[in-house]
Amino acid sequence: MYYMTNTFGNANSVDHSYGDEASQAVKQARQQIAELTNASAKEIIFTSGATESINLVIQGHIQQNTPSKIIVSPVEHKAVLDTCQALAKKGLVEIIWLKVNSQAQINLEHLEKVCSDGASLLCIMAANNEVGTIYPIQKIALIAKKYNIPFLCDASQAVGKIPIHFQEWGITYLAISGHKLYAPKGIGALVIKKGYHLQPIIYGGGHQQGIRSGTLNVSGIAGLGEACHLRGLEMKRDETAIPSVSLV
Ligand SMILES: Cc1ncc(COP(=O)(O)O)c(C=O)c1O
Repeated sequence: MYYMTNTFGNANSVDHSYGDEASQAVKQARQQIAELTNASAKEIIFTSGATESINLVIQGHIQQNTPSKIIVSPVEHKAVLDTCQALAKKGLVEIIWLKVNSQAQINLEHLEKVCSDGASLLCIMAANNEVGTIYPIQKIALIAKKYNIPFLCDASQAVGKIPIHFQEWGITYLAISGHKLYAPKGIGALVIKKGYHLQPIIYGGGHQQGIRSGTLNVSGIAGLGEACHLRGLEMKRDETAIPSVSLV
């Protein structure tokens, strides 16, 4: 609320105190998101939400690697499925579907077999938005790494709820949605592994290393940072909570 009602500066116009204050808020939010996801603050790009983060990865990646083979879980959110299918219709990608069982779980042996044929991107979410299945992201990232396939993990339903170790697990791209962890709607982030670059899908002033142009949504970003900070504290509290003992 403070940043919505008091901080009117542009975070990229830092030659005056209004811009400085906005820029500091963005810097702090980057740090808070990095802490919750175990990433580096420099790896974070702000977007309007997970849909945009996912589109940026899939479309931005494909522009650099056409024709592309994308390995996709069939139980991904429509932000992944429809983006891949739209690109497939244009003949820009070939989709390789993974198998899932009745609980929407992935067979890791099948995943490894499919990855061994090579691909330019693997898309598997961290937690399913329809049935709640949680995926073994660390094991999936290991397989992707073994076959040198960049890995997009849509973590919209996981960040702030279960631990995510972006760097340690070796995830390439992590999509975050603000409103799934009590931040405002219309803000999200994409964590991009150091050394990876995406072609932009929105062109403009070259903000955020030219990957996502557009004036930053400072109040939304501050809200996302604060939500990450609070979820981090609450997750720590839940971890250390003494299990209740039944006296009956
Ligand atoms: C798993 C998953 N991915 C992506 C999205 C899209 O997120 P956003 O609304 O931030 O674009 C959602 C939102 O419902 C979701 O549950």
